[in-house]
Amino acid sequence: MGRMNITRSDLAQAVDVAAQPLELAIVLPTFNERGNVAGMVERLDAALKGVVWEAIFVDDNSPDGTSDEARRLSLKDPRVRCIQRIGRRGLASAAIEGMCSTAAPVVAVMDADHQHDPELLPQMLKAVQSGDYDLAYASRFAEGASTEAWGRPDRVKASGIANRIANKVTGVELTDPMSGYFMLRTETLRADAHRLSGVGFKILLDILATVDRPLRVKEFPLHFAARAEGESKLDQTVVFEFLIGLYDKWLGRIIPTRFALFGTVGAMGVVVQLAALWMMLHVVFRERFVYGNWSESATFNVANTIAAVVAMTFNFVLNNELTYSDKRLRGFVPLMRGWAQFGVTCSLGLLTNIGSAAMLKTMGFHDVVAVVTGIILGSVWNFALSSKFVWGK
Ligand code: GDD
Ligand code: MN
Repeated sequence: MGRMNITRSDLAQAVDVAAQPLELAIVLPTFNERGNVAGMVERLDAALKGVVWEAIFVDDNSPDGTSDEARRLSLKDPRVRCIQRIGRRGLASAAIEGMCSTAAPVVAVMDADHQHDPELLPQMLKAVQSGDYDLAYASRFAEGASTEAWGRPDRVKASGIANRIANKVTGVELTDPMSGYFMLRTETLRADAHRLSGVGFKILLDILATVDRPLRVKEFPLHFAARAEGESKLDQTVVFEFLIGLYDKWLGRIIPTRFALFGTVGAMGVVVQLAALWMMLHVVFRERFVYGNWSESATFNVANTIAAVVAMTFNFVLNNELTYSDKRLRGFVPLMRGWAQFGVTCSLGLLTNIGSAAMLKTMGFHDVVAVVTGIILGSVWNFALSSKFVWGK
């Protein structure tokens, strides 16, 4: 076997692509989909006979070498392209970058794990090309749709609630606004691409909510297949994703979404520390107190130290799960190291907090101003340090 085995039909197709203008780009965001990529290209080829298309894999530097696999295919078939993103994660932002990287007049986004049936593409293309519709998409909940396998049953239920809010926000009645399989004219997308949020995975919903005029949408019932290889990467519930999306859309430009999450977790940490302190004093250390082994202040200091460590641990776990879910630390050693680093970061943050408040106080500022400024500066410091050293690379 040669290094590249190009068949006569491959060559004919390549000539075709060169001769006719590109009609359709299919964007396939990937993370650890090495085993699915080649099969996807074969299925696209089979489904799109007579259409001039290109497939763009947008891979977030998958450890399993998905990008290498896509490049290998690209050398055999120039209709396959690969965008390898370094140091970034996220389905929505990958989809946006892929959609903006094509010259094709129409673009589709679909999953690369074979859950989305490529046989729908020609019908979707027809609907968009006809000019009767601005957007075509595949719905898991439309009349006639079916679901082979839900990785997570909780998603199904969550979808119902989220869908209703989504329909309110976008002004379009869709049975499945969280769908990851859709097609539209690239000019429609480009006109508003700079206003898309790019956070999380609800990209279709984001497009519908961002474009000012209501889009004419054609729905196609989808047979949602079971995933071919590997496992799902979207582990957050649709509802959480949805709330984050709303926040990002409305306030994300003023206070960045990640910082807002970090701050919210921090505020919850304050409540946790107070609760833990109360528990320590009234339940755990009650006896020592009552029988007088320890002085009142010693008891308080020990109890508060433990409460602070509890709160710090709580914050670490929540930030790891939510704020930095895309860079989540896993495994015993990375988690312990991260926890210790987070502890150091928080201690420095506390010094910043108290130090700046003390400084403002001596400068004659009101107590509240001094304390609040201290809290803000401490949080910014914590955020900057932890995103660089705890969840950085
Ligand atoms: N580039 C990139 N970066 N791709 C990603 C990332 C990421 O961070 N996370 C997931 N993907 C890719 C996967 O490799 C896959 O091709 C596709 O996006 C969908 O990811 P899955 O992990 O298979 O998602 P799912 O099957 O659990 O979720 C389905 O339902 C969601 C709504 O509930 C998909 O259809 C989603 O598109 C849909 O939004
Ligand atoms: Mn999937």
